[in-house]
Amino acid sequence: MTSTKRPILIAPSILSADFGRLAEEVRAVTEAGADYIHVDVMDGHFVPNLTIGPPVIKALRKATQLPLDVHLMIEHPDRWIDAYADAGADLICVHAEAAKHLHRAVQAIRARGKRAAVSLNPATPEDHVRYVLPLVDMVLVMSVNPGFGGQDFIPEVLPKIAALRAEADARGLALDIEVDGGIKVDNVGQVARAGANVFVSGSGIFGGDYAKLIGEMRARAEAAR
Ligand code: DX5
Ligand code: ZN
Repeated sequence: MTSTKRPILIAPSILSADFGRLAEEVRAVTEAGADYIHVDVMDGHFVPNLTIGPPVIKALRKATQLPLDVHLMIEHPDRWIDAYADAGADLICVHAEAAKHLHRAVQAIRARGKRAAVSLNPATPEDHVRYVLPLVDMVLVMSVNPGFGGQDFIPEVLPKIAALRAEADARGLALDIEVDGGIKVDNVGQVARAGANVFVSGSGIFGGDYAKLIGEMRARAEAAR
């Protein structure tokens, strides 16, 4: 199966960057070897925090050539897909718990020529994506409760990652599995071993030497599988 050999990708979450120097921070992680820029959009309703919206993404689009991986932690994500596509998002991720019509939301993302992803909160079972799996490029497994950076990794999501990888393999789907929350150099190996191949890290990268941490995460994820 080709899906077990999906490339290892490192996606720094700018939630832990210096917001006063955001473009500079994005350029720095780009030069440090990042594969995606992970952008956390929060609306103060779906999650108890508020961050950024389309104008900031439009500005960041000019700071890097890397794909912008836009994680929408918002209610009614279907109403916002055009705005984020227009702003320059490359991947648009909606939460299964937030999209009343998940299939329609995923179709709308694809109709805009963008890569579609669905995210699952820690308590949401993998079954929620079963019937949209062939229509998405990526499933994002949350390994913290969304809303804040710097929280501890929740190990109970490891079997969910393994179940998703097994299902994608069984169905012959070239699915990326992204993990977001509490990912550090020390635990990236076990998450890769479970079957994830895209690793979001905020405090695990922005807290230190970007190039060294990105390189070390990539090496440990590669070595683990
Ligand atoms: C949490 C966000 C994450 C967060 C990860 O709601 O979706 O992307 O920034 O931050 P760390 O890596 O510090 O847990
Ligand atoms: Zn995120």
